Amino acid sequence: EVTVKTLDSASTVEPMYDSDIEDRFIYLENVGELNDQMRMIGLTEADLALLRKIRPVMEQHMDAITDAFYQSVLDIDKLREIIVQHSTIDRLKRTLRDHLLEIFKGEVDEAYISKRLRIAQIHKLVGLEPKWYLSAFQNLQNELIRVIYHETEHEEERLNVVQTVTKLLSLEQQLVLD
Ligand code: HEM
Repeated sequence: EVTVKTLDSASTVEPMYDSDIEDRFIYLENVGELNDQMRMIGLTEADLALLRKIRPVMEQHMDAITDAFYQSVLDIDKLREIIVQHSTIDRLKRTLRDHLLEIFKGEVDEAYISKRLRIAQIHKLVGLEPKWYLSAFQNLQNELIRVIYHETEHEEERLNVVQTVTKLLSLEQQLVLD
């Protein structure tokens, strides 16, 4: 069972990334509930270890994954406009790549959660509606599962990796909707 490692002293934390929209570290309001969410989706330490194990393989496919992701986003006029107005594809591909690789560090601590809440806020600020956000997650999940399918040999392992990755994506969507 995984619980969020909270920070003992709030003051020791630096914001983990810059955003030209707004720069703020979000402190978790309800860690207990978040721990319950992780218990409910069955996120375990073994999952986190598995993520760390498959990281190098996933890293090899990150460019393909982010390329496919942004191509699908650009195909939707409304979404392309948001990007053109607020950012660039190159920049977003880089940030998405780093973001995804972070999932495979297998460290779900307060900084990890906080950063994701912040990113959800950024998307709200740029006017990305939840339905598109969730569609984007599904698109990403399709790509990730496709890679996992090709990179795993045994059924059991394949199931484990798919379930683990979808747990982390689900957690992220739970944060977006919160
Ligand atoms: C910002 C990831 C969906 C547009 C970001 C950032 C990350 C990220 C990590 C933060 C960049 C920073 O730190 O400054 C994701 C993930 C998504 C997703 C994981 C869904 C699975 C989308 C979609 C759009 C979009 C569908 C389409 C409009 C943007 C924009 C920014 C941003 C405009 C902020 C601009 C900037 O700071 O350069 N996204 N994104 N994102 N994202 Fe997304």
